[in-house]
Amino acid sequence: MRPIDSEGRSYLDFLAGIGVCSLGHGHAVLQDALKGQVERLLHVSNYFYVEHRGQAAALISKLANNDMEGARALADAIAADDEHAVIDAASSAEGEQAWQTFFANSGAEANEGAMKLARLYAKRRGNGGNTIVCLRGSFHGRTLETVAATIQERLQEDFRPLPQGFVACSPNNVEELRSIFEELGNEICAVMLEPIQGESGVHPLSAEFVRVAADLVHQAGGLLIADVD
Ligand SMILES: Cc1ncc(COP(=O)(O)O)c(C=O)c1O
Repeated sequence: MRPIDSEGRSYLDFLAGIGVCSLGHGHAVLQDALKGQVERLLHVSNYFYVEHRGQAAALISKLANNDMEGARALADAIAADDEHAVIDAASSAEGEQAWQTFFANSGAEANEGAMKLARLYAKRRGNGGNTIVCLRGSFHGRTLETVAATIQERLQEDFRPLPQGFVACSPNNVEELRSIFEELGNEICAVMLEPIQGESGVHPLSAEFVRVAADLVHQAGGLLIADVD
């Protein structure tokens, strides 16, 4: 289904509602799944285990391992509603990492979760630092913490004072990044970046910059946060 604007123009939507509509608009399979769920159960709090959430997490883990065959087998088992086959297909193959997923309501909440995780990781296993390096021209959301991580003056100026603990670096400037780590390495718990910045234009990061960022932050005992919203 194509969205139609107020002038009656119809669109083929490659914007995907900024990341939240990547399954398209009104596809019959999607409609059936949504209707079916609404008829069964609208919402339960996260105090309870939700079967489909567990299955979706297992599927994401397969995909994160680039195990397309395993993901297909799991998706088929889920579609067939075959509990034993789901358990079999969801288990990790030899040498496969079992990834955990934090489900969030929005990109901003996902980024807040990632920043909290980085600080927690640094506290428990890393260097204990709490500084997050973010890139100029970035966009990470509309909550105060994600506005602080969004290094664009025009998006920050009306909301000061902002939460602390963020340092700015220019995208693709490997030298500046290295000097930030030389100065603050022990305090850095994460580098947060969009592989392709989208809000300030379309600015892809170079493979070299991402590699150096990953190496430096891992050596410092922190995490690389990739915001792909
Ligand atoms: C790169 C990026 N990060 C985070 C967000 C925030 O997502 P949300 O609007 O779902 O909170 C957006 C979109 O607005 C985005 O483009």
